[in-house]
Amino acid sequence: MKLVLLGAPGAGKGTQAVKIAEKYGIVHISTGDIFRKNLKEGTPVGLKAKAYIDKGQLVPDEVTCEIVAERLKEADCQKGFMLDGFPRNVYQAQALEKMTDIDVVLNIAVDLNKLMARLTGRRVCAACGESYHVSTFTQSKCLKCGGDVIQRADDTEETVGKRLQVYTEQTQPLIDFYQKKGKLQSVDGMAAIDDVFADVVKVLDAVR
Ligand code: AP5
Ligand code: MG
Repeated sequence: MKLVLLGAPGAGKGTQAVKIAEKYGIVHISTGDIFRKNLKEGTPVGLKAKAYIDKGQLVPDEVTCEIVAERLKEADCQKGFMLDGFPRNVYQAQALEKMTDIDVVLNIAVDLNKLMARLTGRRVCAACGESYHVSTFTQSKCLKCGGDVIQRADDTEETVGKRLQVYTEQTQPLIDFYQKKGKLQSVDGMAAIDDVFADVVKVLDAVR
């Protein structure tokens, strides 16, 4: 299965991706995670990406597309994969068409007005990436691995505002783009996490 997860910042792409990867055994490729890993390791790609991520802007297309193209050539992607956070604009979607054929694009539909609280309240484990929210989690260590739970640098109110604006201007048009190609399926991302996943499973079982 070759799957794209589409959705606004905070829609729950990462949350659902972990569950999908576990159930279907497919590789989870998050461009945001790749950039953050590079940043942590201080690579040239990481340093370049930081300037954009900190401002809530998209990292330049040529950098992002090159990373995805190389990743998709790896052996673990040959039987299928799930892209989380790519493509993010029409240019990237057209670049992806030249790399491979996608089976389904799953849009996690959310109310954009509710995302500021979700994102500014999000906390993540610096070691394993597990996601939490301050409304239900106030500890400093990850329940899964014991790592430090931190706030993502781009989850401040100002940067979240910019990310939502970039989403509306550049990424939202992809809903139409994939609808016209007959690839789009949507789930209600405002439901509880497990209910969203139940809907995701219905969609994926039907296209598999
Ligand atoms: P990226 O890391 O992709 O961030 P994003 O798209 O802004 O999305 P998030 O990871 O913030 O949200 P999510 O949808 O994964 O939500 P999550 O599951 O964590 O990108 C970061 C930056 O990297 C970009 O701004 C850009 O600079 C750069 N970049 C990345 N890809 C790029 C590309 N292709 N081109 C150019 N630049 C790129 O959930 C959020 C919170 O909500 C959590 O606390 C979670 O517990 C909670 N939650 C999840 N689902 C629910 C639910 N159903 N109900 C209640 N709470 C929920
Ligand atoms: Mg994410």
